[in-house]
Amino acid sequence: MGFSIYLYSVLSFSGLVIILAAGLMIAERFLINYGICKLDINAGEEPLEVEGGQTLLSSLYASEIFIPSACGGKGSCGHCKLTVTSGGGPVLPTETPYLTRKEVRSGTRLACQVKIREDIFVRIPADFLNVRMFSATVESTRVLTHDIKEIRFALDDDQEISQRPGQYVQVQAPSPDGPVFRAYSISSPVYEPKVVELVVRLIPGGIGSTFLHNLQVNDPVAFTGPYGEFYLNENPSTEIICVGGGCGMAPMKNIIYTIYDKWPDRSCWLFFGCRTTEDIFYLERFKELEKKHPNFHVVYALSDELKPGEKWDGETGFIHLAADKCLELDIPRQAFLCGPPPMIEAVTRILDEKGIRSEDIFYDEF
Ligand SMILES: Cc1cc2nc3c(=O)[nH]c(=O)nc-3n(C[C@H](O)[C@H](O)[C@H](O)COP(=O)(O)OP(=O)(O)OC[C@H]3O[C@@H](n4cnc5c(N)ncnc54)[C@H](O)[C@@H]3O)c2cc1C
Ligand code: FES
Repeated sequence: MGFSIYLYSVLSFSGLVIILAAGLMIAERFLINYGICKLDINAGEEPLEVEGGQTLLSSLYASEIFIPSACGGKGSCGHCKLTVTSGGGPVLPTETPYLTRKEVRSGTRLACQVKIREDIFVRIPADFLNVRMFSATVESTRVLTHDIKEIRFALDDDQEISQRPGQYVQVQAPSPDGPVFRAYSISSPVYEPKVVELVVRLIPGGIGSTFLHNLQVNDPVAFTGPYGEFYLNENPSTEIICVGGGCGMAPMKNIIYTIYDKWPDRSCWLFFGCRTTEDIFYLERFKELEKKHPNFHVVYALSDELKPGEKWDGETGFIHLAADKCLELDIPRQAFLCGPPPMIEAVTRILDEKGIRSEDIFYDEF
């Protein structure tokens, strides 16, 4: 009896809070008019004029300033960080999981969570101001494995993309709730500025990956970019280490082909982790590249047991163990890692033991 009264009170209180919160949201949406607010970027001379009540992310998007937003503004990726120097209101509980204390102190905010209610002053890195919207047409699609496809887009008209190897684009995909954006690394090298090629793994039920896997030659697509923090060291005596698994191949392919176009003798390792022989792709083409460039080394490793009758003369076990076995100690190096978080963590530990400084290790988790 006592327990049911307690349960009833808790449920009534929670219901009341939910109704009040929903009421406030509806009132804010339909009754409160914030009017036109000024949006000042990098203390510019002419602030933008935007309609109050929108998020900072969508106001910037409407002004063709494209901030990374891998989750499409849901507050679940932490990619849309900007510095708000004034007018952003208090940091919300939805932001705190993605911000360090230092970032909170310095005014870093998630642009998708900040609502413009008054004049607002923001700082946006120059890289983001160079991001553009591109339109393109599917040039070819190729099945690479049971769940991975290569999709190549020709940019429309005279558009060209100026990217650093390892950067990504955000593809616009249709969804029942309107267009969403998803991040995909560019696998085509920087010397093909009229092309954007992607390597996409199909996530069952996934909006972006299903849209991309269903595309046919000549279908149109739109994306923004380039984004990303990868910076290739331009000193050719710095050895490059690429480690990936699955669709983490995309930025690796870009980096490797860009390197060998520019520095044919540069030392570079590719470590690629697969579970089974069914997950192997691009091995033949990298073996060809290895023959042309003696300082390029390609190592694929299978982590699962071979099926009866299967043959494999490459490495076995997890890919970080192959890196541990092959790499010497204390050579000037830079490393690029792409794959699931446990792989990134294990490889980073090995690279640290090999003497690579943490600032020379770049990674994207996906
Ligand atoms: C910087 C960056 C670069 C990326 N580059 C690539 C790339 O080159 N190729 C590529 O294929 N992907 C890449 N991704 C991942 C990509 O952005 C999408 O997250 C992925 O395609 C899933 O999106 P979706 O719309 O298909 O699935 P959603 O509609 O977002 O998700 C559908 C369901 O699947 C779950 N889900 C989402 N992702 C995964 C996952 N990886 N494994 C299992 N379940 C999942 C979700 O939780 C949800 O329940 C990258 C991500 C980032 C952040
Ligand atoms: S867009 Fe993903 S957290 Fe803001």
